[in-house]
Amino acid sequence: MSDISPLRQFIIEMTILANEYYGNEQAMVNGTKPLLLDLIAEDGWLPDSCAVDGDTYRQYLLHCDPSQRFSVVSFVWGPGQTTPVHDHTVWGLIGMLRGAETGQRFGFAEDGSLVPGETDLLAAGDIDIVSPTLGDIHKVSNACDDKTSISIHVYGTNIGAVNRNVYDPFSGAPKSFISGYSNTEVPNLWDMSVR
Ligand code: FE2
Repeated sequence: MSDISPLRQFIIEMTILANEYYGNEQAMVNGTKPLLLDLIAEDGWLPDSCAVDGDTYRQYLLHCDPSQRFSVVSFVWGPGQTTPVHDHTVWGLIGMLRGAETGQRFGFAEDGSLVPGETDLLAAGDIDIVSPTLGDIHKVSNACDDKTSISIHVYGTNIGAVNRNVYDPFSGAPKSFISGYSNTEVPNLWDMSVR
């Protein structure tokens, strides 16, 4: 059984951060980054139930703050899997736990079509940041052809309940969606007998 205590500690520290800085995007992003770097520095804490791939990429809710000030999600990519071009509407940090992924950023041309921007390769231990002010539209893919990749995402709201957009990669036409989550049960953070 995995030792979930690093995730519990992360949630405790994120809650303290949100108590102080919720509503201040810059402070939340700056405060989340070192916490997430610590969390993804060691593998072995993610419950197996939240690391299972499927016929499309999966997003497992690990924790949602009761006031929905932040949520923590494991994204699991099978070989070759990719997201549509999408936005988030809130700040988010992406921390690579296992394998690698590519993030292709997009902006808009004057005619409303999408313009490809930088492509970043995230290896285990790396972090990427999205937000409406820092650049919010991207497409993410598993960079490994032969194995599952997993990233841990932290967002400034209950991301699975947000009305946001996927975009046609050619016309830029948006289509609204609410992602939900792949799991119906969240991990138990609080069994302190497990060491
Ligand atoms: Fe994303």
